[in-house]
Amino acid sequence: TWRMDSFVESTIKDIREKVGDGKVLLALSGGVDSSVAAGLLSRAIGKQLTCVFVDHGLLRKNEGDEVESVFGPNGQFDLNFIRVNAQERYYSKLAGVTEPEQKRKIIGEEFIRVFEEEAKKIGAVDFLAQGTIYPDVVESGLGGESAVIKSHHNVGGLPDFVDFKEIIEPLRNLFKDEVRKAGLELGIPENLVFRQPFPGPGLGIRIIGEVNADKVRIVQDADYIYRDEVDKAVAAYKKEHGKNPSWMPNQYFAALTNMRSVGVMGDERTYDYAVALRAVNTVDFMTAESAEIPFAVLQTVMSRIINEVRGVNRVFYDLTSKPPGTIEFE
Ligand code: XMP
Repeated sequence: TWRMDSFVESTIKDIREKVGDGKVLLALSGGVDSSVAAGLLSRAIGKQLTCVFVDHGLLRKNEGDEVESVFGPNGQFDLNFIRVNAQERYYSKLAGVTEPEQKRKIIGEEFIRVFEEEAKKIGAVDFLAQGTIYPDVVESGLGGESAVIKSHHNVGGLPDFVDFKEIIEPLRNLFKDEVRKAGLELGIPENLVFRQPFPGPGLGIRIIGEVNADKVRIVQDADYIYRDEVDKAVAAYKKEHGKNPSWMPNQYFAALTNMRSVGVMGDERTYDYAVALRAVNTVDFMTAESAEIPFAVLQTVMSRIINEVRGVNRVFYDLTSKPPGTIEFE
């Protein structure tokens, strides 16, 4: 039978054999796949592995620090961890840019530039590791639907800007649920292992129109409140009924519309942004329905966002299915 502990043990053995005393470089995004790849490689070869984590300033609230606490010098893994705080670089590149594909392109290209600079500092490595999983292999081969509709910057060819001899992809034969099991086996925290999907371009495509630091703050704080309240509601339901609610979304997040409208706060007229809440039920992310989050939960989220997040005076819930809507807003 297929056992995860045997996968982990045999893969560690394979990695050691393949890598020998060579050096390995991994771009760590903080997502499930690259995190599990980092955990496996660390267990196999320790400090022969260097992970470069680029904080592009478009991560969810506290996410950069969470990644650092797991993989950084005070974390539980033996590896070299380099965090690049590239927020300002990204914000200045994105200033004034409103077209969605242009934004994706800039974010993807800037990642390559930052990563290339770090790779130059490290010098030649023997292997470039990637967290490619089986569905990625299939999707890029067949030109997956999302890859066509929107450019996915993390699905593509081999980077030619890093000086390496060979690619190493320890998760290439695994499905997502197997990757998660391996992650738990390696001791990666549950909140990271069961993280919901998060696009490579991050909050950059959840801020409709121009991106700036203040809009990032708004969407981070609104999203944090939303996820917190949905998680609490799911946990309460589970406690009472012993199972997840039928409306349990597979992906849920806040986005910032590019729309400002008039409101009233105390005696003051306001002219502030509208936040959009998205939650979907989906099996494969190719089609999706808007999730029936209980109205009371949405009302709590609305009032917390309006009261706690400066710059927001209106909250919308997105009812759109996919198709015709996509899950993300850009
Ligand atoms: P859409 O918006 O195309 O999203 O309905 C479908 C799923 O893909 C995720 N998504 C991305 N994931 N890089 C990624 O790694 C991307 O550029 C990207 N764009 C969308 C989205 O979060 C959803 O789960």
